[in-house]
Amino acid sequence: MARNELIEKTLVDAMDYARTFLHTGKVATYIPELAKGYPDKLGACVITTDGEIYSAGDWHQEFTIQSISKTLTLIMALQTAGYDRVFSKVGVEPTGDAFNSLVRLETKNTHPLNPMINAGAIATADCCMDSKDPSGDFLTLTRKLCRRDTIHLDEAVFQSEKKAGMRNRSMAYLMQGDNILEHDAEDVVDLYFWMCSLSVNVEDLANYALILANNGVDPRTGETLLEDWIVRIVKTLMVTCGMYDASGEFAMKVGIPAKSGVGGGIMGTVERKMGLAAFNPALDPKGNSVGAYRVLEYLSHYLGLHYFSGSGYTV
Ligand code: DON
Repeated sequence: MARNELIEKTLVDAMDYARTFLHTGKVATYIPELAKGYPDKLGACVITTDGEIYSAGDWHQEFTIQSISKTLTLIMALQTAGYDRVFSKVGVEPTGDAFNSLVRLETKNTHPLNPMINAGAIATADCCMDSKDPSGDFLTLTRKLCRRDTIHLDEAVFQSEKKAGMRNRSMAYLMQGDNILEHDAEDVVDLYFWMCSLSVNVEDLANYALILANNGVDPRTGETLLEDWIVRIVKTLMVTCGMYDASGEFAMKVGIPAKSGVGGGIMGTVERKMGLAAFNPALDPKGNSVGAYRVLEYLSHYLGLHYFSGSGYTV
C-alpha cells in the first residue's frame, strides 16, 4: 500500500502548529519525578489500518502512560470481573470536576462517577486484583496491545507517585470504608500507581489505539485481541470522559475518542481508519497536554477526522 502523502504532510504541519502553543503549558509538578520532563518535547504517531506508520518529532521519546492506563485498567477489569461487577462499583457519567477530585465520593454518590477519573480507576483496579499477579497480567496486556515486548515500569516515577499519592490514598480509603473496594486500600493504590508508571512512546500508544479503532482486531494480522463489546465501552467512555473536565470541549473541537495522561500523552482512535498518539509534557490547567491536544486538533481539522465531520473522511 502506498504511503498517504496527505497524512504525511498534515502531520508535519500539525507539529509546526502545535509548537507555537507549547509556551502556554506547564509540566506536572505534583509528582516530583514528572517535573523533570522537558516542556518542548513534541512527538506524534499515526498508524492507519493498512499498517502504514507515520511518525514525527520525538516519537521515540518514552514517557509514563499515566491516566491513559485507565483505559487498560478498565479493559482488564471487564475481562476479569465482568460487566456487572465493574459497573456496580463505578458509573459511566462525566463529572465536570478535576481528575483528582474526591468531592463527589462524599456529597453526590459514594460510587465514583466513571472509570476515567482517579477514583474510578482505583475502583476498577480493585476489580483486577483477583488475579495472582495483577501487575504482571497488566503488563502482558499492555505489551500485547502496544505491540512491544520491552515496555517496562519507570521505577523512579512509580516511587515518586507512591510518595506523593495522598489524594489517591484518601479516595481509596473512602471507598474501602463504603465497601466499594474489596481489597486493602494500600494494595489497590499501589497497583493503580504501578499501572500509571509504565513507560511508553507514541508509537506504542498508536498501536494500541489502532486495535481500538478496528474494534479489537489487529488489522495487520487479523488476530482478535479484544472482544468488541469491551472496545465499545472503552471508546464510549473516551468520548464522554477521556479528557477529564475538558471532554466536552475536546469532543466539539476535535471529535476523536481520546484519553490523556499527565505524563503528556494523548491517545486517539478514529473508527476503522487509524490509531494516533501525540506527546508533549507541557500541560494546560486541566491536566491535558497542550502540544498533543493541538496536534490532534490540527489532524482532525485537516484530515476530516471529527466523528461528525460533514464531508466525511478525507483519508
Ligand atoms: O493519579 C495520578 O495523579 C496520576 N498517576 C495519573 C493522573 C493523570 O494522568 C491524570 N491526567 N491527566
